[in-house]
Amino acid sequence: MPVDIALPTGNGQIRPPARPRQAPPVAVVIFGASGDLAGRKLVPALFDLQQAGLLARRFAVLGFSRSALSDEDFRGSMREGVQRFARHKPVDERGWQEFSSALHYQCGQFDDPSSYRVLADRLAEIDREHGTAGNRLFYLATPPEVFPVIIRYRSRSPKPTASVLAGDITTRLVRSATW
Ligand SMILES: NC(=O)c1ccc[n+]([C@@H]2O[C@H](COP(=O)([O-])OP(=O)(O)OC[C@H]3O[C@@H](n4cnc5c(N)ncnc54)[C@H](OP(=O)(O)O)[C@@H]3O)[C@@H](O)[C@H]2O)c1
Repeated sequence: MPVDIALPTGNGQIRPPARPRQAPPVAVVIFGASGDLAGRKLVPALFDLQQAGLLARRFAVLGFSRSALSDEDFRGSMREGVQRFARHKPVDERGWQEFSSALHYQCGQFDDPSSYRVLADRLAEIDREHGTAGNRLFYLATPPEVFPVIIRYRSRSPKPTASVLAGDITTRLVRSATW
């Protein structure tokens, strides 16, 4: 059966699916959000999907890593990445404002239970603000050595650090491919 999804064409464009359909509401948590992969590839790709009308209107990103950044700092740094690496150019102010209002950031340590509790509280706020309905996509943009630590905290149940992070509705975990 053909898969009806957006695909890269190989010449820098995204070919929309024959019957485009918007993704369901979701909050994407990027572990390692201050790193190169997030700024160079992940967030510019999300911006392109939004510009193509393929992201849910009820969508948000919560970046999580050690660097102490405010939401505004994070948005500023992601803006640079989008301007340099997004395929959809030029990046107009209206499109950027709409997209960036869904970008949030939380600093923390991947091996610290209290960081996960703070993260869970932020996700609950994001659900209220953006209507993301408890759906979660966890993207691991970290060195591979850290994957087991995050997965242990994220999925151990019924310990508080895990259960607060497990989305009630839909939860997906994606890890970055290593070089
Ligand atoms: N860069 C690419 O284009 C690319 C392409 C394909 C695959 N990858 C893979 O993607 C992954 C990330 O690569 P990258 O180039 O983005 O690496 P990077 O620039 O070194 O970024 C790593 C990120 O992980 C965070 N981090 C690391 N250890 C942490 C810890 N113990 N607690 C909290 N945060 C921690 C860092 O946070 P702080 O800096 O805030 O401390 C930073 O945000 C790697 O597995 C890499 O092999 C990267």
